[in-house]
Amino acid sequence: MNAIETHNLTKVYNTFTAVNSLNLEIPDKTIFGMLGPNGAGKTTTIKMLTCLIQPTSGEAIVGGYNVRDNPDEVRRLLGMVPQQVSLYKDLTVMENSQLCADYYGINPNERDSRIEDLMELVDIKYARDKRISQLSGGQKQKASLVASLVHKPKILFLDEPTIGLDPTTKRVLWDLIRELNDDGRTIILCSHDMHEVDMLCDNVGIINTGNLVAYDTPQGLKDSLLDSNKEEITETLHQISAESEVKTSTMEDTESLSLRKLSFLLEDNNENIINSLKNNEFVKSIEIARNGRINLRIDYFDDNAVSNVLSTVLSCGGVIKSISTEEPSLEDVFIKSTSEVNENDRA
Ligand SMILES: Nc1ncnc2c1ncn2[C@@H]1O[C@H](COP(=O)(O)OP(=O)(O)O)[C@@H](O)[C@H]1O
Ligand SMILES: [Mg+2]
Repeated sequence: MNAIETHNLTKVYNTFTAVNSLNLEIPDKTIFGMLGPNGAGKTTTIKMLTCLIQPTSGEAIVGGYNVRDNPDEVRRLLGMVPQQVSLYKDLTVMENSQLCADYYGINPNERDSRIEDLMELVDIKYARDKRISQLSGGQKQKASLVASLVHKPKILFLDEPTIGLDPTTKRVLWDLIRELNDDGRTIILCSHDMHEVDMLCDNVGIINTGNLVAYDTPQGLKDSLLDSNKEEITETLHQISAESEVKTSTMEDTESLSLRKLSFLLEDNNENIINSLKNNEFVKSIEIARNGRINLRIDYFDDNAVSNVLSTVLSCGGVIKSISTEEPSLEDVFIKSTSEVNENDRA
């Protein structure tokens, strides 16, 4: 079952399309990461899913309810931790949570013990009687989490929950997000922290200019960067092995090549090879290590980059003894998928 489904979900502000026919499926009890540059339409999407604004067209089904027809049922199912903490500054952590509990009609006998349990879970009990205005950024985030969890939401939206937090507090929140998910909650995490998304999320969607431009598991997204160049790499390596007797083990090692950082060791680094590499249009930087290893950064956005660079080496008589590359990161996927759409927009 899906916790969230959207069908051609669209939001138009006046004449501007902020979210364009979004089709999204977020399976129940998973952690979904929403990535996208500023102005991509993430917050607008979340606002539609949390019934803060109405879609212009299309449908959103949250926990089985249509946001248009059953907004009250949807609101009961979800918790929201906004980027800007929206608690009452002059009330204490406890009082803010009590207000939230009362809003959701939590039984008063149960209310305070439930809040105390949550405070313990996120480790903020020591500040229960402090006003929000007296708390640090991380403490505010924790207070906000307690308030948003008090009605036991099945679906939790977190908008940049760890932005500006110190590394230790970040880890505490990451553990908490995992715990909440283990407990059966679906989590929608908006973040600019690629490492955070890579580590926590089951699935990731990249949104750009209102469109979903990529959707997969973090590993699937990273592999997709490799796949687009795999065939060409294999072909080029066959060519190399025929021409320069590269060991077959080298070929296997490079099956999972990334094109970001290319590094190889030649039998002999003659000046001709180095100069030709320097002049190759795909080579962004070149560095020769003390042991003679040549480390290149190449423009992998171009499909011809790898074969072109390797051909340069071969045509100068270079004999490759070993070759290696670095795996792409989610950040690479993000930059590639958002730059492609921008280019399409311009065309
Ligand atoms: N109330 C509004 N009226 C008009 N335009 C808006 C409104 N809210 C957002 N936008 C525009 O819609 C686009 C998407 O905004 P938003 O969803 O906030 O992006 P994100 O959260 O991904 O940074 C932006 O170009 C923004 O300027
Ligand atoms: Mg936003």
